[in-house]
Amino acid sequence: MEIADKMRAQLDIKEHVERDRFVSRIGVFLATVGSAVGLGNIWKFPALTGSNGGGAFLLVYVASTLLIGLPVMISEHMIGRTYRANAVRSMRQATTGRTPWWLVGAAGVLSAFLILAFYTEVAGWVFTNVLKAFSGGLLSTDPAVTSQAFGSMVTDPVMSLAAQWVVFAVITAIIMMGVSKGIERATKRLLPVLFFLLVVVCIRGLTLPGAAAGLRFLFKPDLDALTWAAVLTAMGLAFFKLSVGMGTMITYGSYFPEDQNIPATAVRVMLSDLFISMLAGVAIFPTVFTYGFAPDAGPSLLFITMPAVFASMPFGQVFMVIFFFLTAIASIGAMISILEVPVALLQEERHYTRAKATLIIMGLLFVAGATAALSSSVLADVTVFGKSFFDLYDFTSSNVLLPLGGLFISIFVGWVWGKENTVAALTNDGALANGKLVSVFFFITRYISPVLIAVILLQGLGLF
Ligand code: TRP
Repeated sequence: MEIADKMRAQLDIKEHVERDRFVSRIGVFLATVGSAVGLGNIWKFPALTGSNGGGAFLLVYVASTLLIGLPVMISEHMIGRTYRANAVRSMRQATTGRTPWWLVGAAGVLSAFLILAFYTEVAGWVFTNVLKAFSGGLLSTDPAVTSQAFGSMVTDPVMSLAAQWVVFAVITAIIMMGVSKGIERATKRLLPVLFFLLVVVCIRGLTLPGAAAGLRFLFKPDLDALTWAAVLTAMGLAFFKLSVGMGTMITYGSYFPEDQNIPATAVRVMLSDLFISMLAGVAIFPTVFTYGFAPDAGPSLLFITMPAVFASMPFGQVFMVIFFFLTAIASIGAMISILEVPVALLQEERHYTRAKATLIIMGLLFVAGATAALSSSVLADVTVFGKSFFDLYDFTSSNVLLPLGGLFISIFVGWVWGKENTVAALTNDGALANGKLVSVFFFITRYISPVLIAVILLQGLGLF
């Protein structure tokens, strides 16, 4: 989109708000939820909770979401809406360009590549499973059969690359068309269906014989088993889930109407996201315990246990097709929000057309993505710090870069931007009666989140 188009689009948003406030608020909310809800809820959350011991991990994850993730989301929305530009430019303008705070935005661009490299591969597995579900070959309650199906998919280099390229084609098309009303409209209708299906599979999970064991695993914290590395992973998940720490929410905030109630929006997004993760957990863990899967299967958990849930319910095949299809849709909303960060940057800073910016970014992603896609086949023996490329990208983005981004954004808002600016921005210049809440937010952002992030980061990485 050219600059003029962009301004026109913003004017459109404003006019829209004046004409129809309610619809527009819902639109902002759904776009933000569309970024937050994705493979993080259905794939990453159960996988990490399972391999880090269950309840205690969940507890730290929820605490990090409330004390760290939510305040960072509010800060990002606020900076984006105030400066109305891409992440790098917003940070630069916030400091009138004198200090290198824009580096926080630049680090976010690196995170975007690392996340997309592995995220697009997992999305590729989901896309593949939609097709496989049609054929019925995946339907089995025997763990040996479902894990064999997953294993043969990830160790096949051609299949892995092909699946990722299909995902690339889909997201390129959508991003090039502009932030498409199509996908927004589609997500608006499909998210409720995903929600409904999750409730159905939850009920199925809760009526299985292993339900009690599964729920105990998920909700009963065993704090002795918790390591600092697990605490860092839980905090990293909180960042990843809420799409914060890399500029996605700055970029989205830059599209918010002036009168959007930022703290209220962020709280609603956070609660919806948490609720969907809980549903996924309750759908998955009872099944794991019923059919004798290992809860610590990691990334393969979703792909070996969900087929078993569906195999054990009437019309399972139909539900499985719909389930993986909707998971694919949810992943698209999230991927687009990540891709928007570098694309918006190239467009605004270099004045490239939207198409050119998208193609350059996709070219780079093509290379980075291949190293992740092939990490269980051709590149299986190549490791960096003992991790495959897939795990390395995942670890570095969630456990290092996103927390660092969040740390610097909190320090920036709490110590540089200051209380006066914050109060003006979050009360919409006094129009909202949320002064107390804003004070609590500012206190947490200034004193609590930065300390928590720094301690967890240093301890979790073994640097302290
Ligand atoms: N939150 C998304 C998910 O859980 C992933 C995501 C979208 C993301 N945008 C992001 C993660 C920005 C980190 C940063 O699937």
